[in-house]
Amino acid sequence: MSKPIYVLSGPNLNLLGTREPEIYGHQTLEDVRGLCEARAKALGYAIVFRQSNHEGELIDWIQEARAAACALVLNPAGYGHTSVAILDALKAVDVPVVECHLSNPAARETFRRKTYVSLAATGVVSGFGAASYELAVEAAAGLVRQRL
Ligand code: DQA
Repeated sequence: MSKPIYVLSGPNLNLLGTREPEIYGHQTLEDVRGLCEARAKALGYAIVFRQSNHEGELIDWIQEARAAACALVLNPAGYGHTSVAILDALKAVDVPVVECHLSNPAARETFRRKTYVSLAATGVVSGFGAASYELAVEAAAGLVRQRL
């Protein structure tokens, strides 16, 4: 059995479904977890699905993923635009990293157009709502298979 795909979400994503639904949709984070689990299972993988509002906790989980995960899907939320520390943590990860956003930050405010996470990600999936996570899990599984 392969190691799991880690799916990590950053600040405010615990409010999914009620937070700016016109931008982020009506599905909750539990709905997103279900979608990711189903997609990963169909591809033969398990997931570890976690959310935190705290930068340090996200960094601890990214460090944990170095040994415990076969790939990492990360929606850094607002920290993507600000956190050099999360970028540094990702640079120490040797497994594929897929950055994921529900919205399309490139089509929003100027300050969202840059994410530090992109500098360490193999690829980015954004703009498809909850489906961004499913697509990111699929991309991560594909990258793992390429490495085997
Ligand atoms: C987000 C986009 C970010 O700009 C924002 O800060 C978020 C969510 C997204 O999933 O679309 O919190 O990462």
